[in-house]
Amino acid sequence: MCKVIIYGAGSIGNHLAHVFRHKGWDVLMCDIAPEALRRTRENIYPSRYGSWDSSIRLSTPDMLPKEDFEVAVIGTPPDTHMDLATQVLENRPPKVLLIEKPLCTPSFDGVQKIVDLQKATGTFVGVAYNHTLTENSRGAARVLAQNTIGEPITISARFREHWGGIFDAHPWLTGPKDTYLGFFERGGGASGEHSHAINIWQHFAHLVGAGRIVEVSATMDIVDDGIVKYDRICLVSVKTETGLVGDIAQDVVTEPAQKAVRIQGTKGFLEWFVNFNKDHDAMRYWDGTHEVKEEMIQKTRPDDFKGEADHIEDILNGGNRLGSPISLERGLDTMMVIIAAHTSHRHRRPVRINYSQGYGPDSIQIL
Ligand SMILES: NC(=O)c1ccc[n+]([C@@H]2O[C@H](COP(=O)([O-])OP(=O)(O)OC[C@H]3O[C@@H](n4cnc5c(N)ncnc54)[C@H](O)[C@@H]3O)[C@@H](O)[C@H]2O)c1
Repeated sequence: MCKVIIYGAGSIGNHLAHVFRHKGWDVLMCDIAPEALRRTRENIYPSRYGSWDSSIRLSTPDMLPKEDFEVAVIGTPPDTHMDLATQVLENRPPKVLLIEKPLCTPSFDGVQKIVDLQKATGTFVGVAYNHTLTENSRGAARVLAQNTIGEPITISARFREHWGGIFDAHPWLTGPKDTYLGFFERGGGASGEHSHAINIWQHFAHLVGAGRIVEVSATMDIVDDGIVKYDRICLVSVKTETGLVGDIAQDVVTEPAQKAVRIQGTKGFLEWFVNFNKDHDAMRYWDGTHEVKEEMIQKTRPDDFKGEADHIEDILNGGNRLGSPISLERGLDTMMVIIAAHTSHRHRRPVRINYSQGYGPDSIQIL
């Protein structure tokens, strides 16, 4: 039986514990806060999934058993990801290490160490942009592969969602100041928290052969009251290495939420939706001749993570890691657009990403 350790018994830790238990895997959740472990057992897990699963082991870091795990998950705040990932890879490297999004803070501190440790250990390091692996994304990939919409002209992506839902799920927080969410330098704000939009834009750009984003121009609405400092709106125009242009919008104010992508092609279009309605994701596409096709994909919240868990299982079984949509490299590419967007906004200038100079703020050139 596959053994999984999840660091962080918070919102995402519970989602992933549940999806791995559904596979029959052995799950241990580790949190520095005993209160978080209690909440998991008495509140979060039973209220989401019906009852507590007593086979899940709960531990604080000092009580961890000396065991090896095939899979490790870092489900803690972004400013802890790099230190924890380093500890895991240096001490007992698992076969798969999944780090939650966003990968790190915009400083990129500690990133090179993870890149080096991935090489040295052979561990598959993934960044948990789970929407690349859901049914609607697989369906959209099939539509694009059949050249239904013709040559892509532009891609538009948005994850615009008021973060009230996050605070509802964390009633012990009084607001953004109590967590990384209120500080973009700790990986919060719309640019980090809703970076699913940048990532899914990049995913579809790869699928249509448009390559990586190399130019970025951004405008943000920054909340800075002397305590918190975060972007509540992050609007980005991008251009890839093949010249494809498009736009990405992320915010923490839109209600009801909009999570969607639109790809316009020379013949028709493809639209991709998360939570199209209460219990469906969806796709709409048109080949320019026949009727617009609409596919509704029934889902519940756990289905958001099922494709990701299946992908991890596939990698454990020797499946191809190359081109994984949740690879470390893809997560780093998304971080590069986040830091590029902040740099562009701050200087009121477009910027260029020079990947050949490595990952980090120094590879951003102001144009
Ligand atoms: N992919 C998704 O859809 C999705 C959804 C929710 C959250 N996330 C991401 O997951 C991460 C965590 O978010 P969350 O909402 O679950 O946060 P949370 O606050 O609910 O939980 C984080 C937990 O980590 C614990 N923690 C902090 N440092 C630790 C350490 N060194 N070792 C062990 N535990 C530690 C905290 O005590 C807390 O209980 C963030 O990066 C967030 O962006 C992703």
